[in-house]
Amino acid sequence: MTTTAEPGVTYEGHTRLAELLALQTPLSSSEEEPFFLIAHQAHELWFKALLGLVDRTVSELRAGDPAAAAATLARGTAIVDLLVHHLDVLDTLPAAEFEVIRAAVGSASALQSRQYARLRHRAQDLAAAAGPGLAAALRDYDDAWERWRRRHLATARRLLGDQRGTAGTTGVPFLEARAPQRLFPDLGG
Ligand code: HEM
Repeated sequence: MTTTAEPGVTYEGHTRLAELLALQTPLSSSEEEPFFLIAHQAHELWFKALLGLVDRTVSELRAGDPAAAAATLARGTAIVDLLVHHLDVLDTLPAAEFEVIRAAVGSASALQSRQYARLRHRAQDLAAAAGPGLAAALRDYDDAWERWRRRHLATARRLLGDQRGTAGTTGVPFLEARAPQRLFPDLGG
């Protein structure tokens, strides 16, 4: 970390805004596709931040500082709650437009999100490192993810109905089976 400002630093340069705003490449003719892409990309950016926080929580637990770990994980919970609102935005997508986008994306699906898979995996590291002092923070984090899964399921139900998912799963029944699966089942619901 440096205490002196880089010479010539600008907001657009620091945030690499031109590159960031050039990253939405629609595959369909739907003018709704940027919303769809931005909602997914925003999720992946926050997944990146979440992975960092979960790692930090584990390090703080291993260093014997459960209070710091609980505060760090609470920030993660706030991020997951924010993601629920990203889905609220996506839920305003008209179903007919979703069909146009869906036809263009082939078998691409967020089921293939490696960061999401890693987050689920890291939850096991978290559970292994945590003592009873972290139970409340773990439960809050788990609850937030359950809200996310139920919100995601509701959107899928509205937009997909009884069609299969783009990844080829049964779609809504697949997500219904996964929605109640807790990250930390040993804590109770
Ligand atoms: C248009 C709204 C959406 C619909 C209709 C939808 C639908 C689905 C469906 C049907 C699946 C099951 C896999 C498949 O067959 O494709 C799935 C999985 C998944 N979706 Fe979405 N999704 C939407 C938006 C999002 C967004 C914005 C994200 C954020 C990254 C996301 C993240 C995920 C994840 C992580 C999985 C895997 C879940 C698991 O492994 O249990 N979805 N989605």
